[in-house]
Amino acid sequence: MSSPAECEPATPSGRVLRLAVLASGTGSNLGAILDACRSGRIRAQVLVVISDRPGATALGRAQAHGIPTLELPPLSGESRTSHGERLLAALTRFDIDLVVLAGYMRILSAEFVQTLAGRLINIHPSLLPRHKGLHTHRRVLEAGELEHGCTVHFVTAELDGGPPVLQSRVTVLEGDDEARLAARVLEREHVVFPRVIGWIADGRLTCDQGIPRLDGHALGAPLLEDRLLEDSTVGEATPR
Ligand code: GRF
Repeated sequence: MSSPAECEPATPSGRVLRLAVLASGTGSNLGAILDACRSGRIRAQVLVVISDRPGATALGRAQAHGIPTLELPPLSGESRTSHGERLLAALTRFDIDLVVLAGYMRILSAEFVQTLAGRLINIHPSLLPRHKGLHTHRRVLEAGELEHGCTVHFVTAELDGGPPVLQSRVTVLEGDDEARLAARVLEREHVVFPRVIGWIADGRLTCDQGIPRLDGHALGAPLLEDRLLEDSTVGEATPR
């Protein structure tokens, strides 16, 4: 078991990126991020995990690592704005640099998103802009598409419409069903999400005025994970 402090790599240069993770479900992406933090592959630490679903598996996963958790379901009849305000108030207590939506299945208020502009990222299980919203694996299969994947993007008020940063492609195979396809996409999510967080932690990736920049270059289109030149560490992957 490790505490958040143990997530810090031995020789960090500069401040370690302070993360809050919002998750509604299993939290396998949270697990991948925690692994990357603990191993020192990314200079980040998870300060708190918040869920809108009491008892979500993701919360137990965080607790097993000694990370504080909060259950913050919307109150009966509560507006999205009010729920967003309570979320922001909770985050303020942790001095957070980046908020990570890792399977957070609730639409956030425009005010919440605006307050965290450039400091809020999401992973979506499709090659955006294709298949925004739910049931992406089913929709890919029903459309007979041959390619699927996932996208890490900065979040704006438009659902799954914020500027994309990195995508990973997955080939749809003969005989795939939703579960098989989802499992292969999830594997790729566990690679690309920590990678993007690592870029932000290293100060390589920013998003100002809705424009993501990696190493100072504006990203007009998302990078493709299979076209990155790989080095041994997450942080040194560079576009080909
Ligand atoms: C992932 O497929 C993510 O893209 C989607 O919800 C799923 C969450 O999985 N938004 P997990 O909770 O990280 O296992």
